[in-house]
Amino acid sequence: MSYTIIKTETLDGVGLIRLNRPQAMNALNGALMAEVVDALQAFDRDPDVGAMVITGDERAFAAGADIKEMADASVVEMMLAERIEHWDRIRQIKKPIIAAVSGWCLGGGNELAMACDMIVASESAKFGQPEINLGVIPGAGGTQRLTRAVGKAVAMEMVLNNRTLDAEEALRYGLVNRVVPVERYLEEALALAKEIAARAPLAVRLGKEMVNHAFESFLADGVADERRAFYILFSTEDQKEGMRAFIEKRKPQWKGK
Ligand code: CAA
Repeated sequence: MSYTIIKTETLDGVGLIRLNRPQAMNALNGALMAEVVDALQAFDRDPDVGAMVITGDERAFAAGADIKEMADASVVEMMLAERIEHWDRIRQIKKPIIAAVSGWCLGGGNELAMACDMIVASESAKFGQPEINLGVIPGAGGTQRLTRAVGKAVAMEMVLNNRTLDAEEALRYGLVNRVVPVERYLEEALALAKEIAARAPLAVRLGKEMVNHAFESFLADGVADERRAFYILFSTEDQKEGMRAFIEKRKPQWKGK
């Protein structure tokens, strides 16, 4: 498959995926996510690839799911579009995936990074779940994986009050593996992926599976509940107002209905 919104290449046994929607801060629309999943599946099948890296650009890993694409959607349209299911498909990939994150890593972007197995962050990386500003909640695993990664106290502030973590805080709370200067974050992620790609493939595969088993046991129920709650919010006036206000670049007026 040839891609239009991402760029892919293979380097020393590592499959690299670059999100390439810089004009929209790499906002994750359905077409982009479909390409990411397709590329990951192709690398997963390729015997010459041992690990993958997903990156954005220096300014933004990804600023979340595409608000313009879903602002006017109903609950039923959200359910039928199955956009969020792309994040689930990433969890089915067998080889390790490293997110190389610089700049904004927000909402569905942070959920994409957390659906990967490791995160290498640049010093400029900023992590957040700002959905509350739009009158909704995270819908692609954010409330579940974030709470496991950083603990309840910090997750509550991030989900309920849009607290953003800088790279050093993300490292301290256990969200990321390492923080490196901006000039080197991709190089460092590729080097880590290359080391892992050179190791015993079946042991790497089962090691990934088992660590994720420990991290994600009982997570599936939480993710399913979260998705239902996220979809239900598309029947509220506040969701329409929150997303419209973002698009119109103004402050939302909440009504509680
Ligand atoms: N969806 C759609 N478009 C987006 C976007 C998003 N998530 N994030 C940024 N963009 C667009 C902006 O609308 C803008 O487009 P125009 O030039 O056409 O106006 C362009 O990208 C550049 O963005 P800004 O002008 O806003 O850039 P900035 O430097 O002033 O701010 C930012 C950067 C802080 C990341 C800001 O863009 C922002 O807050 N973005 C939204 C973040 C957000 O709310 N994410 C959550 C989305 S919902 C979600 O992800 C649900 C889920 O769990 C699945």
